[in-house]
Amino acid sequence: MPINDFILERYFAEFEFAAKYLLSSSDCEPLAMQKLLNMADPEALGLWSNLKLSYTESLGIPALREEIACMYDGVQPDQVMVTNPEEGIFISMQTLLNEGDEVITTFPGYQSLYEIAVSKGCKVGRWEPDDNNQFSVGELESLLTDKTRMLVINFPHNPTGAHLSRSDFDRVISMVEERNILLFSDEMYRFLEYKEDDRLPSVCEVYKNSLTLCGMSKSFALPGLRLGWLIVHDPEIISRLQSYKDYTTICPPGPSEILSLIALRNRKRIVERNLEIIGKNIDLMEEFAVRNPHFIRWIAPKAGSVAFPEIFVRYEVEYFCRCLTKKTGAMLLPSSVYGYEKNRVRIGLGRSDFELGLKVLEEFVRK
Ligand SMILES: Cc1ncc(COP(=O)(O)O)c(C=O)c1O
Repeated sequence: MPINDFILERYFAEFEFAAKYLLSSSDCEPLAMQKLLNMADPEALGLWSNLKLSYTESLGIPALREEIACMYDGVQPDQVMVTNPEEGIFISMQTLLNEGDEVITTFPGYQSLYEIAVSKGCKVGRWEPDDNNQFSVGELESLLTDKTRMLVINFPHNPTGAHLSRSDFDRVISMVEERNILLFSDEMYRFLEYKEDDRLPSVCEVYKNSLTLCGMSKSFALPGLRLGWLIVHDPEIISRLQSYKDYTTICPPGPSEILSLIALRNRKRIVERNLEIIGKNIDLMEEFAVRNPHFIRWIAPKAGSVAFPEIFVRYEVEYFCRCLTKKTGAMLLPSSVYGYEKNRVRIGLGRSDFELGLKVLEEFVRK
């Protein structure tokens, strides 16, 4: 079956590089190359200076796989596969799903997390949040059946900023464990919890029948590296993913591997810097919402770099967002790009020029 367009990516392709103020980006303010290199220890700097631009090891350079494994309890480097994050989703779904399989996913969501399953002829069920962007685990339980093959979750969640409590997370793990369901956990926004206590264990630390996805684009402010990783306990699954990867990128980009190594060795300060930007922008958004209740119902995110408030406009949300961008150069992402019917926009909280864009939006909505 042909795969449907990735609507959000098509929307970004139209506006991202033309708009002056990006109010919906999901990444955190990208780090400048020199700033990153200034953080490098002598060993990593040596790897960078002497890097030969050859093909690399298909599963990733050993030093990087070791650094990634250290970030998780009970994970060994041979359970780490370095991959572009979007590619990690693609090869996992292509490899592990078959026509007719039942898949349940958090929805709305990053489209490839369910669209590849749809293109393979899977039956896809949606685990949706309530009006306040909260996911109910009771609701998830009612969606799981004896036939469910895979559950796909994404917490902290794009686009709502929803997060599970530890007790809800434990219930999800028990549910998949009892039914032996394969769990795909997209943890691209992990480490961006506003309170450290809210950080959940990674799925790979508590459930073996799983795949965990993380990467450099959001929490580590380096989307341009196009690099991330999968953690998989089952060696047979890793080997199948690796074989499929021979038809996509074959191996990771060497420069991105070394730059990722430098960033991950300095992850604490990079994450702190991102959380500081997000915290300031959340305050600005809260004040904006108090001043403009006729326009917006702010639904505070629990974690991550995005939020999904309700907006009140006379026209369709997408029409409103397109007019805003055309008239002012400020870009907002409408909920329609998620195939979601409620009147929402995605707010990207990770950029340092957020305040400027918000001023432009305020002038527009007050006219
Ligand atoms: C939830 C989620 N998963 C995966 C990705 C893909 O990450 P990347 O753009 O680094 O490939 C994104 C990017 O926006 C995302 O939001």
